[in-house]
Amino acid sequence: MKPRLLLIEDDTSTACALQKVLQDEGYQVNRAERGDAGLEEARRLPYQLVITDLRLPGLNGLELVARLRATQPKLPVIMMTAHGTTETAIEATKLGAYEYLVKPFEADELLGLVATAVAQSQLMSEPVEMGEAGHARLAVIGNSRPMQSIYKEIGRVAATPVTVLIRGETGTGKELIARALYQHSNRSHKPFIAVNCAAIPETLLESELFGHERGAFTGAKVRRIGRFEQAHGGTIFLDEIGDLSPGTQAKLLRVLQEKTIRRVGGDAVIPVDVRVLAATHCDLEAGIVNQKFRQDLFYRLSVVTVHLPPLSERREDIPALVKFFIQRYARELQVETPSIQAEAVQWLQTQPWPGNVRELENIVRQALLTSRHFTIGLGQVKEVLAKARKPQLASGQLHADYVAGLLARVQRGEEQDAYARMIADLEPELFRQAIQLAGGNQAKAARWLGVTRLKMREKLIQLGLHPHRGMDEEEDNPSAGAGQDIP
Ligand SMILES: Nc1ncnc2c1ncn2[C@@H]1O[C@H](COP(=O)(O)OP(=O)(O)OP(=O)(O)O)[C@@H](O)[C@H]1O
Ligand SMILES: [Mg+2]
Repeated sequence: MKPRLLLIEDDTSTACALQKVLQDEGYQVNRAERGDAGLEEARRLPYQLVITDLRLPGLNGLELVARLRATQPKLPVIMMTAHGTTETAIEATKLGAYEYLVKPFEADELLGLVATAVAQSQLMSEPVEMGEAGHARLAVIGNSRPMQSIYKEIGRVAATPVTVLIRGETGTGKELIARALYQHSNRSHKPFIAVNCAAIPETLLESELFGHERGAFTGAKVRRIGRFEQAHGGTIFLDEIGDLSPGTQAKLLRVLQEKTIRRVGGDAVIPVDVRVLAATHCDLEAGIVNQKFRQDLFYRLSVVTVHLPPLSERREDIPALVKFFIQRYARELQVETPSIQAEAVQWLQTQPWPGNVRELENIVRQALLTSRHFTIGLGQVKEVLAKARKPQLASGQLHADYVAGLLARVQRGEEQDAYARMIADLEPELFRQAIQLAGGNQAKAARWLGVTRLKMREKLIQLGLHPHRGMDEEEDNPSAGAGQDIP
């Protein structure tokens, strides 16, 4: 199902351009031209995101955000604003708008924001069943002892405002548990904002969390409202908390103790009422010993700890998980649910699973894809797992061999600029695989690699991978390319 977006913009040509950019990216886009009509439309259908102009006939964007926040607090809004009205747009983020964009902006900028806002919206709205699959796409499956005590713990703390620290190796289901905690809390009708602390550069994280005042640092041209302030009344999920810098740790500690924030570069003390959920795969106790993680913060965060054991310590859950994933992917692929040989399930139970539930999920999905809806057999499962593990080993090996060879050539004087050589050798593969994996979607591939769409396109052309590079050069028509300004 394509995510459904509502675009409210009174200027028809801008609206059409935006609609096209969004539809090309795979979104379903409905439009409204007046604020009041937009508000009505937002109530008529379930939308994942509203993108609205600030100045609108009928009802202005600010008013619209306030009204939506009152009735649909879980619906994210991106506000578009012209130069000179930025202050008002910032006002909107205080009222709960997810983000704002100053016109003119690049298509990439919009698409990046839309992707994160839609992800947030899905985080808030997609139900997580507990213990049993039911009809939900997401469920916490498993009846092993450790899982049973986790369900009990969730039942005990979900409805209280206490801070919960979710721990466990990669792929054990930390994010899933955070969502379940939110959905079973008495704040489930209020916003849930997730921040992946490891994904945001250290220099920007404080401003992302707490906001900043204009001029707080170079580049801080306008005020920014942080995620804590936006989540007021709701829940914030701080993922990968083990990666916080000492400075941010100190600030977070203060927020937890005093329930107030101070924007970066600001004096005002702003009260916030936010329930904090945090997750990490890191060994925080070791972090404390190495003085990388503050002990006082650790105590504040771990008022309640939910510890997700690795899958290898709850092998009895594997059959139920396998069944759940088979059903889920069969439904998604719209094929009949295949059965799986008992020997295959038993064999899966004996495997090590360093990637935990996520790895099991991937293996089951691939086995399903290759089974062509016949019974999934042991041989097939073994083959899929062997294939999935092989590239890692092989590429690690190749890698070391490649570097050794390169350095040997440098030593012999046959080669210089080893660094540039390595980039030149590996880059084509990176772009080739990314665009293939993204199904040809350049914007998506560009986001994965952290390059602009323009750069993506240039590289693809350079490498002869650009699909439209042909008789009529796009260079002749700059508006056809990526990176165009809107409107
Ligand atoms: N008990 C479970 N039942 C069903 N699905 C699960 C369970 N645990 C995890 N999953 C699924 O496994 C995948 C990984 O889970 P999740 O993203 O929550 O892990 P994580 O601990 O946050 O991993 P990471 O540390 O890598 O971020 C998801 O698709 C999730 O739905
Ligand atoms: Mg996670």
